[in-house]
Amino acid sequence: MKTSVVSGTLDSIETEVMVFAHFAEEPLPEEILKLDEKLNDAISKKLKMKEFTGEFRQVHVISTLGNFPAKNIALVGLGKKSDSSLDFLRRAAGHAMKDLRDLSGFTKFAIAAHLADVPDSTIEERAQAVAEGSILGAYQFLKYKTVDVEKIKKVKEIKFIGDFENAFKRGRVIAESACLSRDVVNEPPSVFTPVAMAEEAGKLEELGVKVTVLDEKQIEDKGMHALLAVNSGSVVPPRFVVMEYDGGGTKKVAVVGKGITFDSGGLNIKPGESMLTMKSDMAGAATVLGIVRACAELKLPVRVFGVMALTENMPGQNAYKPGDIVRSYSGKTIEVLNTDAEGRIVLADALTYAERDIEADVIVDLATLTGACVVALGNVCGGVLGDDAVVKKLIDSGTCTGDRLWQLPLWKEYQEQVVSDIGDVRNLGKVRRSAGTITAAAFLRAFVARTPWAHVDIAGTGWSDDDVDYIRKGGTGFGVRLMVDFLEKFK
Ligand code: BES
Ligand code: ZN
Ligand code: ZN
Repeated sequence: MKTSVVSGTLDSIETEVMVFAHFAEEPLPEEILKLDEKLNDAISKKLKMKEFTGEFRQVHVISTLGNFPAKNIALVGLGKKSDSSLDFLRRAAGHAMKDLRDLSGFTKFAIAAHLADVPDSTIEERAQAVAEGSILGAYQFLKYKTVDVEKIKKVKEIKFIGDFENAFKRGRVIAESACLSRDVVNEPPSVFTPVAMAEEAGKLEELGVKVTVLDEKQIEDKGMHALLAVNSGSVVPPRFVVMEYDGGGTKKVAVVGKGITFDSGGLNIKPGESMLTMKSDMAGAATVLGIVRACAELKLPVRVFGVMALTENMPGQNAYKPGDIVRSYSGKTIEVLNTDAEGRIVLADALTYAERDIEADVIVDLATLTGACVVALGNVCGGVLGDDAVVKKLIDSGTCTGDRLWQLPLWKEYQEQVVSDIGDVRNLGKVRRSAGTITAAAFLRAFVARTPWAHVDIAGTGWSDDDVDYIRKGGTGFGVRLMVDFLEKFK
């Protein structure tokens, strides 16, 4: 897919379809009216006849009948203006790309959707949102298709219209980084092992990122026995990866990702249905990869350390068992009560690393940590817990970027629920089936001694079973937009 930024008047741009966004019950903006005149009122007639009402997600194509360099005009509905926001624009753009590609068969697009006057937004913000929405919306994962590949409809070209080079570039890079994160989540678990993930991270060196990979022996020498315990049932070795991008920021931000490349549950094996999407249990690490790529590609003035704790969680001769006590890198002992609560165990070592070795000023971890988070919040937003100041900044970035978050409490009553009888911390809350997302976060909290920290549970948002707006089935890339915004604003 080729993307470019083009300037010039709307009636000078060559393409198969030029995409506009329009609010319900609003007059056509001036730019479209000018076009309308040249098209003998073809657009305003559609509105008058109520063929296009501007309802959210409605897509309407009007042929320009050879009178115009753009062969067609597409209008996409944004819904009511007063209810709208940048994310509606992003979503409409994403929806339109798929609709126009799959239902109308267009391959070449010119996007003018950012001309819609979304409340409380600048045109640059809209240009960025539209670039994000359309690239995310056009995303496909076709690597493993071999039959009739040429018949699959694909977007070949997107031209973004206007003099907002910088905003479009930001949108493009952020969306492409989220798509990288989607790609690695969508890869099969036997291909994208911890070793393959570490190799993928190594590719960021081209962008000036310093990548350090610890292999099994180095992980052992370091004393990360929590990560090793989870790995013990697997024949594939673990990896611990640190990606450092230094764009000159004064504060060190550590972004830590859960990287379980396949979560079978271990000896507490999952039922088949629950295991079906567990190749996505490295979505946190995949997001971290996307975040570091975006920062480096955009040369943001931030100092970020992306940390990925990578292993499979498998049953096997050597697998760790319920009842085991594991000594973590922090020195604290972990009582294992359920081998399927493995994410928090590997994160324990990664959080200690972020505090002790990186000496980060702030730590944010992202993890597909608990089914309870899916029960509580579904796939609409992620859960966030931790120090209030960090949580608040994350929630604000979520509102700005559409990667929304909702806070859950982390009071000391919950902390007590993860105190072990015979070790220091237990990997399962004491109260059966209660507050699963919170007790998981309380467990993590025990491994952050002094650094401002927040945990983002992306169990519900990291993966999608459906195509919705700019979300595509499979890995979502959730958290890349969120964290790029957070990093840029972090002082
Ligand atoms: N990877 C899962 C959580 C998950 C569930 C992610 C559904 C995405 C969708 C995690 O490792 C897990 O299995 N958690 C257990 C914890 C329980 C044993 C305390 C869970 O949520 O059931
Ligand atoms: Zn698990
Ligand atoms: Zn897991």
